[in-house]
Amino acid sequence: MFTLPTMISKDIILLLIIVLLLVRGAVLLEVDTAVHRQAPGLESPLKVWWAKEITPDFHVAGRLTERQVKYAAEAGFRSILSLFMYETGDSGSFGGEYLPTTAEAWVSAHISGMQYIALVGGNDDWASIATIQKFHDALQHLNRPILLHCDRGYTITFVTLMHMANQTRHNSSYEPKIYSEDFYKITAAMGLDFTHEDLKHTVSHITGEPLVENPPKHNCEPEEWLDFWLAHPVSTNWYVGGQIRDCDVEVLETVGFKAIVNMRMGLTHDSKHSQEPVALLNIKDGTTTYGNDTVPPRQDWKTLKDNRINAHHSSAYISERSRINFEVENHLEFGDDIGYNEEKEKSSVGKSSLKYYHIPIPPNLTMTSETFTQVRSTLLEAGQNGPVLLHCSDGRRVAYLGVLAAAVSEGRGLDWALKRVAELGFEVSPDARPDVYAMYCDTFKDAATNMGHEEL
Ligand SMILES: *[C@@H]1O[C@H](CO)[C@@H](O)[C@H](O)[C@H]1NC(C)=O
Ligand SMILES: *[C@@H]1O[C@H](CO)[C@@H](O)[C@H](O)[C@H]1NC(C)=O
Ligand SMILES: *[C@@H]1O[C@H](CO)[C@@H](O)[C@H](O)[C@H]1NC(C)=O
Ligand SMILES: *[C@@H]1O[C@H](CO)[C@@H](O)[C@H](O)[C@H]1NC(C)=O
Repeated sequence: MFTLPTMISKDIILLLIIVLLLVRGAVLLEVDTAVHRQAPGLESPLKVWWAKEITPDFHVAGRLTERQVKYAAEAGFRSILSLFMYETGDSGSFGGEYLPTTAEAWVSAHISGMQYIALVGGNDDWASIATIQKFHDALQHLNRPILLHCDRGYTITFVTLMHMANQTRHNSSYEPKIYSEDFYKITAAMGLDFTHEDLKHTVSHITGEPLVENPPKHNCEPEEWLDFWLAHPVSTNWYVGGQIRDCDVEVLETVGFKAIVNMRMGLTHDSKHSQEPVALLNIKDGTTTYGNDTVPPRQDWKTLKDNRINAHHSSAYISERSRINFEVENHLEFGDDIGYNEEKEKSSVGKSSLKYYHIPIPPNLTMTSETFTQVRSTLLEAGQNGPVLLHCSDGRRVAYLGVLAAAVSEGRGLDWALKRVAELGFEVSPDARPDVYAMYCDTFKDAATNMGHEEL
């Protein structure tokens, strides 16, 4: 006699849970991404912050250096697909950094334990059905997650999303579904423009849907920001990202950036040593810079050895001349013998026409509205003269503060800011980052109050 009521109450509880889940689902934020994006960089945000997630299996990027190929493996990618083949003699340069040919990238990928394929010749039509077909066929043989790249992350995004649209149309079990409308929203949110007439026909052909007349278009300035493909565009002239390299300064200048805002910690903070860790090949992220009575510092020989990602790599993994299988210093990313050295970056940027702002924010700071109040006027000033790149180590700090600055500067509201920061892979909500959520709410509440005053 006791079992019946118990069962009913269990059912009621289950029903309640389902209703709660549904209500929660209904208030979930609408974002213009294929899936709710994770923070960029898989297991190594310090090294691979520039990869843009389309789905957990597909991340897109521009043409990679050999170091970036290795970084991808260390972050947990299991294969690389290069849309284009770069023949012998077709090596490239990014601000003076060497960009390998396909044969050379293949070697780097294999020594890192990844699969590597290149899909089409440089003269093939990338926007053709044949290319999307080749992509479809190639995917069957690749371990996931896959880092997909072309020159600037543009064409590969088109081909990847067209593949997903084709699956949506022909394969009922495929997820996530990509229809024409999704395609244009997602690419606009990524700062990519595929609204050209020829491309519209390919989209229509693949989806089997009518041509989309007035697809949404991004508002990025400059339109050619993609020449610095590593950046994550926020809105108009606001961009965020992780640690830049020495070679990036020249590229940023050429693209038309006017300022860099660095939110990483300097050498000291409140008169204490405060250097952050620098990315090192075959060394784990997230190990602390300084030692104490029992633990030696991060870049101590023995500590480095203990913090290797893969103890079995040959020393050739680091370079032909290396005699050890891990890296000890990284000058390209402004590292010294302790960690990341902000003064080196400052001096490098100082040699360019770019304005440099240093706003140190501790990596795991619990933010309050005071945090934003303190940096607000500097950020707004930095954004006044044109394209500005805000960077930290992995793009997290600058996403929280940069999206808010862009919103304030452009007179947008809380909903826009929450949507945009989620589209960058950094969810802000009462659950995910209650501190940042409160900072956002306070900032917009003040803005509303101020506007009220101005009207009086
Ligand atoms: C579209 O998907 C179907 C079903 O998976 C496949 O047979 C076909 O080759 C795909 N077409 C293209 C252009 O990728
Ligand atoms: C359809 O999609 C599912 C889920 O992504 C996949 O496992 C399957 O291989 C696809 N089928 C074809 C014919 O492409
Ligand atoms: C020393 O640092 C390590 C790692 O950062 C930490 O786990 C340990 O508790 C610290 N020891 C002392 C005595 O502070
Ligand atoms: C700091 O935050 C990162 C995520 O950004 C996390 O992985 C790490 O464990 C945190 N470190 C500390 C000391 O809380």
